[in-house]
Formats: sequence, structure tokens, C-alpha cells
Amino acid sequence: MKLAPSLLSADFGNLRAEAREVEPLADYFHIDVMDGHFVDNLTIGPPVVNALRRGLEKPFDIHLMIDYPIHYAPRFEVKPSDIVTFHVESEDEPFRTIEVIREMGCKVGISLRPVTPIAAVFPYLDLIDLILVMSVEPGFGGQPFMPQAVERIERLREEIGARPVVISVDGGINETNVGRVVKAGAELIVAGSAIFGQPDRITAMRRLIAAAG
Ligand code: DX5
Ligand code: ZN
Repeated sequence: MKLAPSLLSADFGNLRAEAREVEPLADYFHIDVMDGHFVDNLTIGPPVVNALRRGLEKPFDIHLMIDYPIHYAPRFEVKPSDIVTFHVESEDEPFRTIEVIREMGCKVGISLRPVTPIAAVFPYLDLIDLILVMSVEPGFGGQPFMPQAVERIERLREEIGARPVVISVDGGINETNVGRVVKAGAELIVAGSAIFGQPDRITAMRRLIAAAG
């Protein structure tokens, strides 16, 4: 299991220091980019994300909750080990969006809202590196985990078969449910409030890793 702390739950006035604090146990930094249109919240965009990199080593897992990923994704300065994930429900055509992100020179992910049938991502399985299963309605940290995500992960795992596609899960993950999602087939775990909402973030991460089994 790999862990991606979601900076959405960090102190936005102190982002780099907060990221550094969790970096020792982080495999990726999960960065939530929201446009106030695709989801009902606004966060940070390319200027902040690109600046944040200085002084950080771990790769970025950029979760685009925006409507025109083709237009905005290339503004992120990525490295080959970074992941840029867009939503299958967003305005741009997914095959073309995959191509554009691939041309940026990083890994490509597709995410889907809890209400979207998982079959919506089946046509792209040969072209992507990661599927980000949302276990809350995207937009805000700190929401309760939706247990139907477990079965969705299991079914996706089956459909993926031997393809080199990682399943990630995002939303409401904590010590009580991380074991279930990992058992179902999730390999990259995103957690925001379960890490940054705790007084000792490193201890919180250790506990999540231990609970993952
Ligand atoms: C929600 C974001 C998540 C969020 C998760 O739309 O995509 O990455 O930060 O936060 P928690 O772990 O608190 O649900
Ligand atoms: Zn996210």
C-alpha cells in the first residue's frame, strides 16, 4: 500500500512546511485542484502547485476536479513520476485528455464520482496508469466514507486484470476502513483529515499504514 496525504486538509497558509512534515512517510503528495464549477469549491491551481515543488522530493498526485482538463493540465510543471488525474465526467473528451496528459510526460489517471457507473472508465483501461475511485462526493475534505466504494474497487480490480493500472481511493479514509479498501484492491490510499486533522501527523500515518494490513 502506498500513501498520498491530501494537502486539502493542510494549512493553506503554510503548505510547504505542512507537506515537509508528512514527507518522510508519504509516497505522493495528493493535490486537489478545484475550479468552482466542476465541484462547488475553489482551491489552488498551477501557480501555487508549481511553486510548492521547491524543497519537496516526493512526486505529486494531482487530482483535477475541473471542467476543462485539456486546457489547464499542461500548465502544471510535472515530472515523469507525477500523476495527473482528471474526471471522466468533466467536459473534455477522455481519449484526447489522456493523450494531452501523456504528452506532458507524466502518468495519467482517471477518476470517477461515486454515482458514476464504473463501466465509464472501461474504455480507457489500456491507456491509463491509475483509476481514482472517489469514496465521497468530490469537493470537500472531512466527509464520511461511502462503503459502496469497496465493491466498486473489487469490480474494477477484476476488470483491470493483468493490466498495469493502479487503483487509488480518495475520501473519508481512516483507520476503520483502510483495511477494507486495500483488501478490495486499492494500492494508493489518499487521506486528508485522517492525517492533517491529527495533532501528530507522522503517528497518524503510521497508524493508517498499520491498519492497512
Ligand atoms: C475531496 C478530495 C479529497 C480530500 C480527502 O474532494 O478529492 O482528496 O482531500 O479528504 P478526506 O480524507 O478528509 O476525506
Ligand atoms: Zn482528491
